[in-house]
Amino acid sequence: MRLRPLGPGAPSVGVIGYGGMHLSIQDRPPEEQGIRVIHAALDGGVTLIDTADVYCLDQNDIGHNERLIARAVRSWRGDRDRVTIATKGGMVRPSGRWEADARPEQLRAACERSLKALGVDRIALYQLHAPDPRVPFAESVGALAELQREGKIRWVGLSNVSVTQIRAAEEMVQVVTVQNRLNPFFREALEQGVVGHCAERGIGFLAYSPTGGGRLNRKLPTHPVLHSIASRLGVSPHALVLAWVLAQSPTVIAIPSARKVEHALDSVAAGELSLSEGDLEAVDRAEFSRR
Ligand SMILES: NC(=O)c1ccc[n+]([C@@H]2O[C@H](COP(=O)([O-])OP(=O)(O)OC[C@H]3O[C@@H](n4cnc5c(N)ncnc54)[C@H](OP(=O)(O)O)[C@@H]3O)[C@@H](O)[C@H]2O)c1
Repeated sequence: MRLRPLGPGAPSVGVIGYGGMHLSIQDRPPEEQGIRVIHAALDGGVTLIDTADVYCLDQNDIGHNERLIARAVRSWRGDRDRVTIATKGGMVRPSGRWEADARPEQLRAACERSLKALGVDRIALYQLHAPDPRVPFAESVGALAELQREGKIRWVGLSNVSVTQIRAAEEMVQVVTVQNRLNPFFREALEQGVVGHCAERGIGFLAYSPTGGGRLNRKLPTHPVLHSIASRLGVSPHALVLAWVLAQSPTVIAIPSARKVEHALDSVAAGELSLSEGDLEAVDRAEFSRR
């Protein structure tokens, strides 16, 4: 597995991380299967696991994914010190809906809950899940800066943000990572300059939904351009797409999810895959319908 720095002042991590979301939201597998998937990803060289307090069914289930990941890492026989767990605060799940709530008091309470769920004294990477339109952005970021000063979090990350918001946050705190969506169907992070800004600053860009997300990833195997390149290279269309995502910039790290061990292993394999200029351009030019 190739390595890349997580961000300024943070160690390198495998270029393919693991996103835990699908182990805890609707259609989640039994917990023992989830643990096998996480162990397979770690055995394959994954050193960054992404989670969030809201990866769960609803507000009564908050922390499900954090508890599961903590359990999996504790029971893994490898070098646990190499594993970085990144979580997030700033959203809530009333009746299962996804809503922003990044008020400072909610972020503080969420951080305390995440510390318990993860069973740690300090969270390695704590990310603002999304800006809350009802709360001044500086207040949400200020709350993370305060939690960092208190030693409850080591590194601060942002998610679902624009370049303007990243710059504003950089005035207040060292931004270590930015987590936005990036895949061939959704290229806004490239077009709107977020990936470029992260590269300039050495900020790790954590590409979420890197294979397209829960619905669109299912279109990859029958995509004509992907199918033809993947067959020639002897890799899966998912691995090809992950390699395309990683090739977009030197600070990109992809965090695919998986409920199946074979999917996690296939994604890990993409950490070794480099694409030719011609193949990258072919994917660049191909049409990816979101419908
Ligand atoms: N910050 C945010 O707002 C935000 C939003 C969404 C996601 N995320 C993060 O990003 C992570 C990934 O995003 P995502 O789950 O939306 O999208 P994704 O990883 O692109 O796709 C999810 C599904 O694709 C399938 N898949 C992935 N790799 C595969 C492979 N190599 N072969 C076959 N199938 C494969 C998996 O199916 P199976 O489940 O059947 O194995 C997986 O559940 C999440 O877990 C979460 O950590 C963050």
